[in-house]
Amino acid sequence: MIRLQGVSKRYKGASKYAVRNLDLEVKPGEIFGFLGPNGAGKTTTIKMIVGLLRPDQGRVLVNGHDVSIDAVAAKQSMGFVPDKPDLYPRLTGLEYLNLLGDVYGVDGPTRRKRLEHYLEMFQLSGAVGDLIQSYSHGMQQKLALTGALLHAPALFILDEPMVGLDPKSSHLFKEIMREHVAQGNTVFFSTHVLEVAEQLCHRVGIINQGEMIACGTMDELRKSQGQAGSSLEKLFLELTDEGDSHEK
Ligand SMILES: Nc1ncnc2c1ncn2[C@@H]1O[C@H](COP(=O)(O)OP(=O)(O)O)[C@@H](O)[C@H]1O
Ligand SMILES: [Mg+2]
Repeated sequence: MIRLQGVSKRYKGASKYAVRNLDLEVKPGEIFGFLGPNGAGKTTTIKMIVGLLRPDQGRVLVNGHDVSIDAVAAKQSMGFVPDKPDLYPRLTGLEYLNLLGDVYGVDGPTRRKRLEHYLEMFQLSGAVGDLIQSYSHGMQQKLALTGALLHAPALFILDEPMVGLDPKSSHLFKEIMREHVAQGNTVFFSTHVLEVAEQLCHRVGIINQGEMIACGTMDELRKSQGQAGSSLEKLFLELTDEGDSHEK
């Protein structure tokens, strides 16, 4: 589903790599949590997976397609919700969703069925006729999520999806991730909220200063640290040595 092979990225003018020599494999049917402190390289990695940034070195394969070579096929097989969705403020919610439906070639009946499902779940049905500029942050996140799932992508990618969501909405986001993998798809999301990862993920990877420092199931990570039973939070703080650092 996702395969990263020796992927590196250094931004122009930067002295350090934002992501360095990253190897990663995410399998079908899996919810994979990508953990790391602020500035660790999560968003950079995600942008390379979805084809918004080109790696300096290495290969990114999504559903068997090399993202640099076969970009359209790769993008057709995934849905992406960025950390700050940049929606079109002067479209209505429904216009935005129909635009995405057209881009991804979702036929009318399928589109209506899926929209009904997500809009009802998110209680957005009453608001889809309004301009996006009138939406709250949470409503925009929900609209972005609905748009990203409209073509039922095999791979669903979210960058820090829970930020700024109320408890009910973040619960719904989790439900939707579980529902999506239950249908045989794959979910990859980044977070610095450890509890969310602990509740949801089949496997997690921890990135720090651009390098993957641990990857596996929660049990595997705990065992590798020789700390059976300890919380992931403790583990995470130790691995990233972020215990008393000042977050951005
Ligand atoms: N557009 C950019 N130009 C230059 N440096 C960037 C850019 N985006 C991110 N960085 C740097 O790359 C590193 C990784 O950032 P990012 O991938 O956004 O981390 P995360 O999403 O884990 O917080 C950080 O040091 C950050 O300052
Ligand atoms: Mg980020």
